[in-house]
Amino acid sequence: MSEISMHRICKSFDRHKVLDEVNLEVEKGEIHCLLGENGAGKTTLMNILYGLYHADSGETYIKGKQVNISSPKVAQQHHIGMVHQHFMLIESMTVLQNIILGNEEGKFSIDYARSRDKVLDMERTYHFNFDLDKPISALSVGEKQRVEIFKAIYRGADIIVLDEPTAVLTPQEVEVLFHILDDMRAQQKTIIFITHKLYETMELSNSVTVLRNGKVVQTLRTKDATSQLLATMMVGHEVSFDIKKTPCRPGETVLDLKNLRVLPVADPQGISLKLHKGEIYGIAGVDGNGQQELESCIIGTSRPISGSIFFDGKEITNLSVSERKMRGIAAIPSDRLRNAILPDMSIVDNYLLGFQHHQKFAKYGFLGLNALRNHAAKMIEAYSIKVSSLTQPISQLSGGNQQKIVFSREAGLEPLLLIAAQPVRGLDIGAIDAIHRQLLELRDSGKAILLISTELSEIMEMSDRIGVLYKGNVIAERDADKFTIRELGLFMAGQKAS
Ligand SMILES: Nc1ncnc2c1ncn2[C@@H]1O[C@H](COP(=O)(O)OP(=O)(O)OP(=O)(O)O)[C@@H](O)[C@H]1O
Ligand SMILES: [Mg+2]
Repeated sequence: MSEISMHRICKSFDRHKVLDEVNLEVEKGEIHCLLGENGAGKTTLMNILYGLYHADSGETYIKGKQVNISSPKVAQQHHIGMVHQHFMLIESMTVLQNIILGNEEGKFSIDYARSRDKVLDMERTYHFNFDLDKPISALSVGEKQRVEIFKAIYRGADIIVLDEPTAVLTPQEVEVLFHILDDMRAQQKTIIFITHKLYETMELSNSVTVLRNGKVVQTLRTKDATSQLLATMMVGHEVSFDIKKTPCRPGETVLDLKNLRVLPVADPQGISLKLHKGEIYGIAGVDGNGQQELESCIIGTSRPISGSIFFDGKEITNLSVSERKMRGIAAIPSDRLRNAILPDMSIVDNYLLGFQHHQKFAKYGFLGLNALRNHAAKMIEAYSIKVSSLTQPISQLSGGNQQKIVFSREAGLEPLLLIAAQPVRGLDIGAIDAIHRQLLELRDSGKAILLISTELSEIMEMSDRIGVLYKGNVIAERDADKFTIRELGLFMAGQKAS
């Protein structure tokens, strides 16, 4: 008897069939990976299991018994927990308060002492170690995620769904997470794990279900799979990811950072670097070494502590975001949800966001709606973005497809400089390949690209030059082929060249 059995699940939005007779069997005490391209239906299927959505037809069985999971509350009664990609914690409250929220000990008032004891007890069982009195706002992304997982366990979950948990983590945090999941599996918890990273699937899971266009392609034991086989199943045809890079022919300087200090801990001389036309400059580094601050100083959402930024020969250190945009700086910010889209607005409107004054759309002070619609349609076609109409709210798109819209909007209007911060986070393998090719095409057409990424392989593969960011300083800079992976790793850990 399977722990979870979803049988012939169908789900449509409008007339668009998103899940088509989906069967899912998950065994107790296993880690089951759910794979599929952006928009394949992974999140939707799990939202149905967790009671956030209702299937149009089909049945769900938990431990052999048919259940009607009408809400997350009911899901919790069936011992199902879910950790969403966007955390649902209350930032101003402490770790302890968040964990016990809604499940407090005490009859009439909250018995914090007893709640704390219970939490500490469970922390020991499952090898967690929190500072219970810290506010959530002071935690790193990885810590917040661990609070979410623990909270689900605390509420009694023995089935836990994790929707792309590694997309937002650094490699070190991924390791910690994998230990935790290993531990949970050993304690007979059942885990459903959504990821786009095939090596994670191969490393972690016992079995895999691959979805394509809302249908199950196959469920198989991981030991019978290879990354290549899984990729082929996801995409529907053989895939090869050999990116051919032409030699770099750098032109004039586009971006010139002079002694830019973005972190208080940085040395006073700060970051100095030049980025040229036709060049991809990769910023490598462990998350939290000033990447975000550097990004926002160049985009214009914050100001450096000291130093100056020159763009196309002119100083822009104190210009506004929109002034920079008009001069030709485009950006794919790392925190897309907060900084790059308006979730309730339509896809078309989101294509306009930040480009209201672009010559292409604004003629004689009027907005050219047709031009805008045509542009949006062209981008959606060029980047194979899955949408049902141009007027649907962007929040209805799958995570990866929202991201492709941001990328195509920013890259599609021929910027002089593109800041690409974690540009492929959350994308499926086909989309990653497509975005990487687009970045190279932009570079070959003479654009300058600043690639900020915590993925070493991406930095190595894409960059012409690499700078390693450590505590707010670039502590090493070379042509990309002059670094070995090992050296890069050492610099990222703060070791100086020997
Ligand atoms: N509330 C909704 N209204 C309309 N369409 C929706 C809604 N939720 C999801 N969809 C559509 O269902 C399809 C599947 O989306 P889902 O989020 O399940 O994909 P996914 O496999 O999780 O993709 P990703 O890897 O990008 O996260 C998409 O085409 C999406 O636009
Ligand atoms: Mg999803």
